[in-house]
Amino acid sequence: MPIDNVLKLYSESIRSPYLHYGFWDNPEAVDLENITLNEMVAAQGRYIEHLASFIPDDVKTILDVGAGIGGNSSYLLSKGYSVEALSPDEYQEGVFAEKYNGEVKFHRTKFEDFNPEKQYDLVLESESACYIQIEPGWQTAKETIRDGGYLLASDYFLHHNDGSGDWHIKASHDEKTYMEKAEEYGFKLIREYDQTDNTMPTLDGAKAFMERFIYPTIDFTSNYMNKNHPFVLKVIKKAFDKKVNDKIKQLSLMDSDEFRKYKRYMIFLFQKVN
Ligand SMILES: C[S@@+](CC[C@H](N)C(=O)[O-])C[C@H]1O[C@@H](n2cnc3c(N)ncnc32)[C@H](O)[C@@H]1O
Repeated sequence: MPIDNVLKLYSESIRSPYLHYGFWDNPEAVDLENITLNEMVAAQGRYIEHLASFIPDDVKTILDVGAGIGGNSSYLLSKGYSVEALSPDEYQEGVFAEKYNGEVKFHRTKFEDFNPEKQYDLVLESESACYIQIEPGWQTAKETIRDGGYLLASDYFLHHNDGSGDWHIKASHDEKTYMEKAEEYGFKLIREYDQTDNTMPTLDGAKAFMERFIYPTIDFTSNYMNKNHPFVLKVIKKAFDKKVNDKIKQLSLMDSDEFRKYKRYMIFLFQKVN
């Protein structure tokens, strides 16, 4: 996998060291219409802080799988853990090289293809579990984690599939299958936390932002082009209509009610038991 341009765009525009949702301690008190970018980034910091509170006391070495652009690794280093990072993404490898100058070893590979040279106390999958194929992922986890070690996954999982092919269904793992395979590969669930309510303000805030700034801009540009350059607009529409429609359908991913209909955003702590 060379570069995930969506994640690259996200990291360059938001300018946050994280590529995950935020964690909101009091979701019901968030003023969605007026969330600022700084509050979004602060909530992302709170996400790793809360997630790290699930790391058991006997953990010293961590493999940060799907490490993104290093925010989580930095947090874990600051807490005294020995950290290595893994991602198939070339851009992220460059960010790590620049940020850590070799202090954090970076393995550029998909987790499913990883051949570990050693075993770790804990594998962290922070919003990366859904990118990793279920069965090969558990197989690699078995080889990568020491006996009695842990896999800490924080991600959204499908609890309902109505067969509609909705974008929410395409972009996540079926929770029941994930659990069955965990057990099959020798992992026992020892803690879980449903953080759906705590994470949804990120989605609602992003949707409010789109409705306030992005849609009116698209509308303005389209009206302007229609009035001043109708032929160019026609050509653009012909070339991009399907792609634009697909993107617009994907925007349903920002609807938290749709999210809840299909998914829950979970923290799962597994222990390797055999
Ligand atoms: C949404 S980002 C999360 C990044 C980071 N963990 C965080 O919490 O900010 C998903 C990450 O998973 C990585 N990824 C995608 N496919 C992967 C795979 N097969 N194995 C490991 N990582 C993968 C992406 O490149 C990216 O780093």
